[in-house]
Amino acid sequence: MHTMLVTGGAGFIGSNFIHYLLETYDTVRIINLDALTYAGNLENLRDVESDPRYVFVKGDVRDKETVDRVFEEYGVDTLVHFAAESHVDRSITQPEIFLSTNILGTGVLLDSAKRHWSLRPDDKYCREYREGVRYLQVSTDEVYGALGKTGMFTETTPLSPNSPYSASKTSADLLVRAYSETYGLPVNITRCSNNYGPYQFPEKLIPLMIHNCLADQPLPVYGDGMQIRDWLHVADHCAAIDAVLRRGRCGEVYNIGGNNEKANIEIVRLILAATGRDESLIRYVKDRPGHDRRYAIDNTKITTELGWAPRYTFEQGMAETVQWYLDNTAWVEHVVSGAYRDYYRDMYDNA
Ligand SMILES: NC(=O)c1ccc[n+]([C@@H]2O[C@H](COP(=O)([O-])OP(=O)(O)OC[C@H]3O[C@@H](n4cnc5c(N)ncnc54)[C@H](O)[C@@H]3O)[C@@H](O)[C@H]2O)c1
Repeated sequence: MHTMLVTGGAGFIGSNFIHYLLETYDTVRIINLDALTYAGNLENLRDVESDPRYVFVKGDVRDKETVDRVFEEYGVDTLVHFAAESHVDRSITQPEIFLSTNILGTGVLLDSAKRHWSLRPDDKYCREYREGVRYLQVSTDEVYGALGKTGMFTETTPLSPNSPYSASKTSADLLVRAYSETYGLPVNITRCSNNYGPYQFPEKLIPLMIHNCLADQPLPVYGDGMQIRDWLHVADHCAAIDAVLRRGRCGEVYNIGGNNEKANIEIVRLILAATGRDESLIRYVKDRPGHDRRYAIDNTKITTELGWAPRYTFEQGMAETVQWYLDNTAWVEHVVSGAYRDYYRDMYDNA
């Protein structure tokens, strides 16, 4: 049985990943380490909080003592690192927290994994680790920068980040690579395209547009709305991470994408149609500085080597996602009002 440390498990993808694991495996133990920033919401996991296979630890990935304690207390053998500051707009106004969480936090986790998994922790040149241990860094296609009208990112595309967010994720990837090269730590990096699905914080494009449509509020669209992203349902991302953990070759990077290129304005129009609203709600606003024009993932490596393929078509995934937000208006209202934070603040801040 694997004992998996999932960092950032109260966020959008992390909470979907925890649901995925509990639904897929009877014998797994999951430790969710999350600092519960504005983006972390334990309401995403309320249905599993009493599951004996699941434990929540409130803590910061930059806190070495907490991370060491989790390794020791639970005997972690697999680490999937989601925790991050993840919103590009916030990284433009507050870059420091991105450098600290995304880079230094990754450094703390790598170092703790190395010390706890090493067969000879006192030998600094030891490159041998306990059988079956693995560190997986959840990265993003944004580390590759932007594409023109043609071409796709492969795993060998040069890293060329354009925002403080993507620069911090790139730095973290390079640290992971260094731990693999210098210490032989068994690692993987996954670089996924834009995700959508349940439990996404309504500051990101798709939930924001759904929320504003339902509230008949204006839909802010950056620039001309022609920024192209490659969209993947979060359940397909979770299955891809699982495939890498089970069958990925040590030290390898795997791109994850759904071959679903859409311009932002197309997504907005689709959500307007799905919610029965018209285009009069669209408001074009000044573009984000350094806004990458196009991302597209070449997923040949993960599909051919690991046999993973996306199961959702974009149409099916979007229909289900819109329906999920319609069925979970209380969740959305709690998030928008901040009520979810008050609910858990008392429970954990005095713990
Ligand atoms: N959302 C996407 O489309 C996408 C695509 C590719 C890759 N990614 C990557 O996937 C990961 C998860 O993304 P997401 O969209 O779920 O993010 P999110 O913002 O929804 O969740 C991040 C989680 O990390 C936690 N966290 C933040 N700082 C922490 C700290 N110092 N210590 C412990 N926990 C902390 C937050 O409380 C939150 O629960 C990120 O690493 C992101 O870069 C996201």
